[in-house]
Amino acid sequence: MTPAPFPAARMRRLRRTRALRELVQENGLSAADLIWPVFIRDGEHIEEPIPSLPGVNRLSLDRLLPAAEQALTLGVPAICLFPYTDPALRTETCEEAWNPENLTNRAIRALKAEFPELMVMTDIALDPYNANGHDGFVVNGEIVNDETVEALVKMGLAQAEAGADILGPSDMMDGRIGTLRLALEAESYRDVAILSYAAKFASGFYGPFRDAVGASGRLVGDKATYQINPANRDEALACVARDLAEGADMVMVKPGMPYLDICRAVKEAFHRPTFAYQVSGEYAMLMAAAMNGWLDEEKVMLESLLAFKRAGCDGVLSYFAVKAAMTLHN
Ligand code: PBG
Repeated sequence: MTPAPFPAARMRRLRRTRALRELVQENGLSAADLIWPVFIRDGEHIEEPIPSLPGVNRLSLDRLLPAAEQALTLGVPAICLFPYTDPALRTETCEEAWNPENLTNRAIRALKAEFPELMVMTDIALDPYNANGHDGFVVNGEIVNDETVEALVKMGLAQAEAGADILGPSDMMDGRIGTLRLALEAESYRDVAILSYAAKFASGFYGPFRDAVGASGRLVGDKATYQINPANRDEALACVARDLAEGADMVMVKPGMPYLDICRAVKEAFHRPTFAYQVSGEYAMLMAAAMNGWLDEEKVMLESLLAFKRAGCDGVLSYFAVKAAMTLHN
């Protein structure tokens, strides 16, 4: 519907006061839209800063619990765990990934015991456990698909057994969602949800994350043989269609801000729960500018998160989750 011509229509009439602006606001952001990604590590009483992610720390499990409680109290419904694995446990065969007693699985149990109402999401991919930093097994220089899927299923089942509510396969192997869904059904984990990293692009914006999980120095080559070419939109939609058909309950677009067009396209094509991951490089970029006094941190944080809602997302994974919830709370 086109507005009447000037002066019948004056768009500024509804911008005149805060109350009018709020009355006609089309989209909103609330703490309930946020998933908080958290880096964990072994040890005790540790909050270890990550230089490329100012304000984000690797937490030992005793520090994770109060942090999770704060998130929950502020209305953030879910947290997503990413482990920094002891270098001694990183191997070419990645068996630590499906060890029932690995750091992630211990963290899930601790969180679910203390805060059963907090939704715990996990990441399924081999990179935190792989000696070469890849999401899949590397055999003769190639990232092998089917063997990796088998391992990912073992990893997902161990997380489900530990009590994870949402599994997040982020590896981009083919066939992982269907295989994982069948395995979950077979083991009676019928209610474990899958949030598939369906439209995950081979992006330069993951750099600080790779520092955080200790994969940066190890990564040999790049991830272009399994993650999507940033130039491709049809391919991203095909990946989402495929993952939904294989049993994903929710889908994700990643990175976020440079891919808002993909978010909108996914929502309009499938009308299913759609998430964006505001990834480490996006966070680092905004924080670097804010720390230089070039941007207003609070403003760009809320504006960037709201943009995902406007683009059609139901929710966002963001390192700003707790800070944003705090700001929204005040
Ligand atoms: C790896 C994984 C990555 C992220 C989440 N899971 C990095 C990668 O694919 O290299 C990135 C998240 C971020 O940058 O914040 N399976």
